[in-house]
Amino acid sequence: MEPGFTHDVLIIGGGAAGLMCAATAARRGRSVLVIEHANRVGKKILMSGGGRCNFTNTGTTPANYLSANPHFCRSALARYTPRDFIDLVERHRIAYHEKELGQLFCDDSSKQIVAMLLAECADAGARIATSCGVERVAACEGGGYTLYTAQGAFTAPSLVVATGGLSIPSMGASGFGYALARQFGHEVLATRAGLVPLTLSGKPQQQLADLAGVALPVRAQCGKTAFENAMLVTHRGISGPAILQISSYWQPGQPLLLDLLPGQDALEVLQAQQAARPAAELKTVLSDLLPRRFAQRLCEHWLPNKPMKQFNAPQLRQAAELLRAWPLVASGTEGYRTAEVTLGGVDTREVSQASFESKRAPGLHFIGEVLDVTGWLGGYNFQWAWASGHAAGEVV
Ligand code: FDA
Repeated sequence: MEPGFTHDVLIIGGGAAGLMCAATAARRGRSVLVIEHANRVGKKILMSGGGRCNFTNTGTTPANYLSANPHFCRSALARYTPRDFIDLVERHRIAYHEKELGQLFCDDSSKQIVAMLLAECADAGARIATSCGVERVAACEGGGYTLYTAQGAFTAPSLVVATGGLSIPSMGASGFGYALARQFGHEVLATRAGLVPLTLSGKPQQQLADLAGVALPVRAQCGKTAFENAMLVTHRGISGPAILQISSYWQPGQPLLLDLLPGQDALEVLQAQQAARPAAELKTVLSDLLPRRFAQRLCEHWLPNKPMKQFNAPQLRQAAELLRAWPLVASGTEGYRTAEVTLGGVDTREVSQASFESKRAPGLHFIGEVLDVTGWLGGYNFQWAWASGHAAGEVV
């Protein structure tokens, strides 16, 4: 340890990125202290993936992340891959399975992932202080940082900020990392909730609210981006994987287009039904293609309900167009209370993509979700936490 310092590395935040960074740095013989203000580490890991932690995605590429600087994540993702994390999981004999689309989940519990990270930290000699709030951070004269905390003052030449985003404040989320970044001259790009249910208001909300619980496959499109997966109607609006994914691309006021028969040509489907069942009403036909109550509601408010033989060619085309691109205007999102991630954050243009060190304050590093790098739903956000934590852990 360098003289005059209590540690080599101080890490604020004992979440996914912070614990990975701690274990990696401690394995290199660095003296590491993780400072976590919550009463236990890894709370978001524990609640993730419905309690089974979707810990990575085997198909991870930089294209699965949103950032004002889309190339920033490339280097770290290439240096610590999903395979590297899977190897760690396998070394700890944690059973896992692929759910869909490359998403890997624990068979049993996300507790195993937290236990694994804690075992890695303990084995490498990294120390963890929980229930330890940071009151103030100051740069030391001649380099390094002092952290004034509820458990005393600590100093180190390297300080890693791994405080995560703003989602789920009840789990320990705070804006501390952003304030710290600003303190040292960094720009913080506007933050907003991502991977979050969308809310409806007025007429569409009234028309759909009592269908809460109904789910169907859709292709949700916003601008040039689209995701095909399930949509769930909720009491306040819409959710489900397709909606959570598109929410990260949605801006207030932007229309959302929902293809209700994804992968099928709606006009061909309706023409075939018209030929096969001319006397059947549209709602009966659609009830065989969509959840029955949803089909009926569409025919009450958005589509004319009459026997198929009464649709002339332009009317059939119009109905098909509505099924292909059902426009829904969301009024907002459910916000950080339920969002999985925070979009925006510390501007990556002022951070080294190799070492995650600040270009403004030597020895200061930012990793994980506090940075302006946000993954899709499906294990990508943890993979970013592991990869960025590992990259910083290799150099601090
Ligand atoms: P993370 O939030 O994990 O850790 C930050 C830590 O810093 C916390 O422990 C916090 O208490 C601490 N902290 C904050 N301020 C502090 C301060 N001032 N002083 C000290 N400590 C402070 N992703 C995924 O890939 N697969 C999944 O299955 C899920 N599931 C999921 C479910 C839910 C409900 C949520 C909310 C999120 C997910 N995610 C996810 C997203 C994933 O949890 C998230 O992207 C990572 O945990 C980010 O890792 P970080 O280490 O950057 O932050």
